Amino acid sequence: MKKLGMVSVAALLASGAVAWADELSLVCSAEQDWCDLMVAAFEAENPDTDVLMVRKSTGETLAQVRAEAGNPKIDVWWGGTGDPHLIAAEEGLSQASGVDTSELLGWAQNMAEISRGKTVGIYAGALGIGYNADILAEKGIEPPQCWADLEDSRFEGEIQVANPNSSGTAYTELATFVQLFGEDEAMTKLAAVGKNVNSYTKSGSAPSKAAARGETGVSIGFMHDMVKLASQGFPLKIVAPCEGTGYEVGAVSIIDGARNLVGAKKWVEFALSAEVQSRAPEVGSFQVPSNSNAQVAPESPDLASIKLIDYDFATYGSSETRERLLARWDSEVGDPNPQQ
Ligand code: F6P
Repeated sequence: MKKLGMVSVAALLASGAVAWADELSLVCSAEQDWCDLMVAAFEAENPDTDVLMVRKSTGETLAQVRAEAGNPKIDVWWGGTGDPHLIAAEEGLSQASGVDTSELLGWAQNMAEISRGKTVGIYAGALGIGYNADILAEKGIEPPQCWADLEDSRFEGEIQVANPNSSGTAYTELATFVQLFGEDEAMTKLAAVGKNVNSYTKSGSAPSKAAARGETGVSIGFMHDMVKLASQGFPLKIVAPCEGTGYEVGAVSIIDGARNLVGAKKWVEFALSAEVQSRAPEVGSFQVPSNSNAQVAPESPDLASIKLIDYDFATYGSSETRERLLARWDSEVGDPNPQQ
């Protein structure tokens, strides 16, 4: 039977009725609908390639890439906050793509400079606070305006945020607090906010989805994810915290030892093109695109009008800093019920 099967497959191949498709293994750390759109668009342009895609949060993906060092299952990692991409580069877990970055904005090229071409910026977005206007009004809770407000007991049990071990969004929040307040003060403040947190989620956008549905009053996350929910009609209001805030540069990296290097390079070129980046708003992804010729959706938060810190990607995207901050977060803030 086995022999017969092999013979018939060989005969089919020889007849040209079946062609082998190249497989490209992709981890996507953006929103599922954007991941799906990207895969469909790439396969339409490259009909001989099957993209095998899994969606995973940024910190989770870094953990997988580390665990598979030497025998990687992933060819290309697209999306997710840039710090863990920079760490993968520093640890020799990704490789230079050699793609042309000349059309990209300075903050995207900066990622390539820090990592010697091993990762490059694809979008940017600012961190903020979201709140469900109906829930807070019903409960008579004054909305927050500043990070410091989230320490107030009026928000007891009302705040949801992700865990910085798994989520790049929550690591951006941790690094933002450290850059705004200094390391010791940041831990004290995060622990005080933590007293009001009802749950730490795995994914960075989950808290804003929960706030939009009224399952929690307040979320911490990226403003563009909140804009998506507000534009769908949810009563989610967006706050740029008064002290200032941090931002992400989302990134793409080719994994060291990628089996389909040709396909991975094609993916990076595709993902950096103005045409492809301009399609993100079709699925409500309102990050600012990195290609200077891409269209910026009118809904995208205007980064120039938000009080942004001068986020130090080289420092907070280094392995040593991330490990130290996560260890301090685990012991001084901590998640009482970590999700598996
Ligand atoms: O796609 C939504 C998004 O907020 C991206 O902008 C960001 O890079 C990613 O999610 C981070 O996801 P997580 O916090 O789950 O790692």
